[in-house]
Amino acid sequence: MTPPENVAAFLEKHWQSPLAHQGGAPAHFTPQEAALDPASCGACHVQQYEDWRGALHAKAMGPGVLGQLINMDAQARDEHQACLRCHAPLAEQADSLSAAIAVKAKTGLHEQGLVCAACHVREHRHFGPPRRDGSVPKPEDKLPHDGWKVSAAFSDSRFCAGCHQFEPDGFALNGKLLENTYAEWQASRYASEGRHCQSCHMPDRRHLWRGIHDRETVRSGVTITAAAPRIDTGAVLAGLTLRNSGTGHHFPTYVTPRVVAEIFQAGADGKALAGTRQEHVIARQVTLDLSREVADTRLAVDAEVRLDYRRPLDARAKTLAYRVRVEPDAFYTAFYRALLSGGAGKGEKMIRQALADSLASHFTLFAESQPLQHGEAQR
Ligand code: HEC
Ligand code: HEC
Ligand code: HEC
Ligand code: HEC
Ligand code: HEC
Repeated sequence: MTPPENVAAFLEKHWQSPLAHQGGAPAHFTPQEAALDPASCGACHVQQYEDWRGALHAKAMGPGVLGQLINMDAQARDEHQACLRCHAPLAEQADSLSAAIAVKAKTGLHEQGLVCAACHVREHRHFGPPRRDGSVPKPEDKLPHDGWKVSAAFSDSRFCAGCHQFEPDGFALNGKLLENTYAEWQASRYASEGRHCQSCHMPDRRHLWRGIHDRETVRSGVTITAAAPRIDTGAVLAGLTLRNSGTGHHFPTYVTPRVVAEIFQAGADGKALAGTRQEHVIARQVTLDLSREVADTRLAVDAEVRLDYRRPLDARAKTLAYRVRVEPDAFYTAFYRALLSGGAGKGEKMIRQALADSLASHFTLFAESQPLQHGEAQR
């Protein structure tokens, strides 16, 4: 029997900040086995590569991030690290960013964001979970890249915590860390049920990492119930309840999204009638300069909130409409606008693109309409 692995010790070494250079690859490696770019891994790991390409981890060096980094000094590597350690953590990516800032047109590995090798490769040795059947590679298997070193850490929530959870002494507002996803998860029933981040965000080991930007994922995390309208002495009474029934942490976990629940009366054209709208915002709202928390109405695991509707019945109303809208990047929309109004320097064009992307990410999570009866209640 081998003693149980020390996951915490593995992760401390695996996620050193900053990461060390890979160094020279073993002499018998083919150029493909030694390459760090995701497309090279993808030649053999087709499914993971296809998944990853569409995931936000692959877009972690999008225009919103790069548009800010590009204004930094080419040699200010510590300053770069403050972002790269989560967005593009390989030392080789830090090199290519420095080079790209110095020689304006240069492209490189940094642009590919959170690449395969950042999670799986150290000093050209590969790391991963055991095979799906639980078996581990043997030296005589003669696998490409000398096989891999197995660690249980890959199926553990702590693997994700380095980037999705601030240290206890990290930046906090109103006594709460700005990023607290792991701690929220740990305090929830999911931790005791053994349902790790990977259970929900990498089901069947898929490399999709869907979250607040994906309608189906958000739908799986919250139960929404519309209470039928009732008319009482000329007023419409109704309710819309949202329960965090399947999100493994606060709904939503970050300060960046905004979820808006609303009810309004609609005329024959389906449009909202003026003065009939009522809303409830679910978000952790902070000021743009991060100096203050304005409100925190997020739903903890299993918590619920009800928007209580009460408004005079509009004579033109045909239906009562219930909506839940999601703005995944609400904070960034405001942040990019502020950045542009002050002048975004060399990053101007990229920040404009990031602003457009943040607005394009809005979606409707829930929409329902119920008829309004004008009969006896109006008499
Ligand atoms: C020449 C083909 C090839 C290339 C290139 C390649 N791999 Fe592999 N990889 C394999 C094979 C084959 C296995 C063994 C699968 C098995 O035996 O179950 C493997 C195993 C793995 C495993 C362990 C899988 C498990 O079940 O836990 C990981 C993780 C991995 N590779 C990551 C990578 C990454 C990251 C890259 C790029 C930096 C890469 N590989 C490049 C062929 C390749
Ligand atoms: C090296 C840092 C790092 C690690 C490790 C990491 N992430 Fe991420 N993750 C990020 C960054 C950065 C983003 C934001 C990408 C972007 O949009 O620019 C992100 C985005 C996400 C998103 C998408 C959120 C959304 O807005 O929709 C999910 C879900 C996610 N990560 C889950 C995980 C899980 C689960 C793990 C562990 C298996 C993990 N991450 C490990 C850095 C990391
Ligand atoms: C501790 C890890 C961490 C660090 C350090 C970090 N980020 Fe992020 N960043 C994230 C995660 C996780 C997300 C996705 C969740 C969200 O939208 O808040 C994200 C999202 C973003 C986004 C919006 C998504 C996108 O790709 O456009 C921008 C812009 C961004 N970060 C910029 C930065 C900049 C600039 C720095 C350095 C000053 C930085 N980040 C440092 C983890 C980190
Ligand atoms: C954010 C970190 C992260 C990135 C980036 C990442 N992986 Fe993984 N990978 C994981 C984790 C975590 C697991 C194990 C999931 C589990 O145990 O549920 C895994 C599992 C795997 C496996 C085993 C899959 C299986 O079905 O058994 C392979 C192969 C692999 N990754 C290859 C890749 C390749 C290739 C890329 C890039 C295209 C990549 N990974 C990018 C974290 C990552
Ligand atoms: C029981 C399933 C479940 C578990 C476990 C879980 N999540 Fe989520 N996660 C969700 C759902 C559903 C969403 C979409 C709703 C939302 O954004 O809150 C989400 C959203 C996210 C987002 C998007 C940003 C945001 O503001 O919500 C990130 C990042 C994330 N999860 C990371 C993690 C990490 C890291 C862990 C482990 C510590 C984890 N999740 C555990 C279900 C889960």
